[in-house]
Amino acid sequence: MAVKVIVGSQWGDEGKGKITDILAEHSDLVVRYQGGNNAGHTVCVGESTFKLHVIPSGILYDSCCSVIANGVVVDPAAVLQEIEKLHSQGIEVNPNKLKISSIANVILPYHRILDNRQEAKRHAEKIGTTGKGIGPAYTDKVTRVGIRMQDLLKEDVFRKKVAKRDIFSQIPKDSLDLEAMITEYLEYGQKLAPYLIDSSLFVNQAIDAGKNLIMEGAQGTLLDVDHGTYPFVTSSNPISGGACVGAGIGPHKIDQVVGVTKAYLTRVGEGPFTTELHDDKGEFLRERGGEFGTTTGRPRRCGWLDLVILKYAIRVNGLTEICLTKLDVLDGLDEIKVCTHYKTKEGDLLEEFPLDLDVYTQCEPVYETLPGWKEDISQMTDMQELPQNAQDYVDYIANKTGVKISMVSVGTRRRQTIHLIQLKS
Ligand code: GDP
Ligand code: IMO
Ligand code: MG
Repeated sequence: MAVKVIVGSQWGDEGKGKITDILAEHSDLVVRYQGGNNAGHTVCVGESTFKLHVIPSGILYDSCCSVIANGVVVDPAAVLQEIEKLHSQGIEVNPNKLKISSIANVILPYHRILDNRQEAKRHAEKIGTTGKGIGPAYTDKVTRVGIRMQDLLKEDVFRKKVAKRDIFSQIPKDSLDLEAMITEYLEYGQKLAPYLIDSSLFVNQAIDAGKNLIMEGAQGTLLDVDHGTYPFVTSSNPISGGACVGAGIGPHKIDQVVGVTKAYLTRVGEGPFTTELHDDKGEFLRERGGEFGTTTGRPRRCGWLDLVILKYAIRVNGLTEICLTKLDVLDGLDEIKVCTHYKTKEGDLLEEFPLDLDVYTQCEPVYETLPGWKEDISQMTDMQELPQNAQDYVDYIANKTGVKISMVSVGTRRRQTIHLIQLKS
């Protein structure tokens, strides 16, 4: 039995969905512990592509139970839509397979209105949020005026809390029909009632029973509200420590922390990005990697792998292993650059990720250049099959970071994966 946390080690979209799906085959529970439907986790199976936003990526297996835990902000309309979409794609979702924490905070329409109004006011300093209401929903949670899923089951409680929230002190009266919202969300409450549970109790009972669990992180380390490139971050804690708070488990219950790492780097939304490529190499990565947002469709900014960031992610998450994804996207390059250090404006070399965003913004990347490979590696399932330069690239990352690489992903499908450590069945 084991509890594995899966985290993004960069700015999100590392391929967490694919890796979670692979590991879920041997897991009893997959638990989402933070974020909301700002996430977009893609799982490709056969001819089908599943885009999961708030439902955990274990949902494709009948043998696996999916849990949306207390740390997630839940948009009930989005959950119901996702259930419908999965049904239309032949995936059964019912209260035996999906559980939702009764104390998870709810994303309401006014959170989305606030999200968009706040972004509009930021003008040149906008964050580039997904517009899903995530920040305002977490703000209400920490300022103690949030609505929890269980509140949707009691009309009087829900009405009282909405009235206390006094939303029209922040948005114009004509931007929302509050009465219609209350009716709509009470209906969602009725529809989702069979899914609601005490998820911390459920998850801990599963751990005590010796089951295999995955705690599926959304977003990534540099989008963490504490440890990321603040303020260009999301409003939750994607890092592994967030799994304890967001699912209600003790830290000693976690056995492994898997850092999903793209073989290069992408970012969607605003904020500094040292190794960003504005040339044809960046375009090459975007086109070959299909780097367009799963949730918003925005083109992702692309750049070279950054070891300063990866080492930082190893530290703040306590990564025990790395899953390297999208190695196939680098096929065909003459050479591949990897950022090993930053050079500050004053000319100092930095090995550690600077916490002052102004310093980070002004840093120049210091690169090592490695030889590329021309072969198509997307059908290779063994490390020895890979061209020597691709093997060397993987070894280089393991040696530079001192963390073992347990999987190398060379395509979107389950079989397009090289397992360097055998999965237990
Ligand atoms: P997540 O948010 O971390 O789950 O990642 P996304 O699903 O948003 O983005 C990753 C994208 O890369 C998806 O379209 C995946 O299907 C795709 N993908 C994942 N692993 C690989 C890989 O090894 N090679 C290629 N070419 N695509 C991959
Ligand atoms: P997955 O789980 C990449 C980014 C947004 C924006 C910032 C804040 O698919 O990796 P928010 O709507 O959360 O307030 O936006 O965070 N962002 C993501 N970027 N992948 C994600 O999720 C993201 N979720 C949020 O683009 O820059
Ligand atoms: Mg994504």
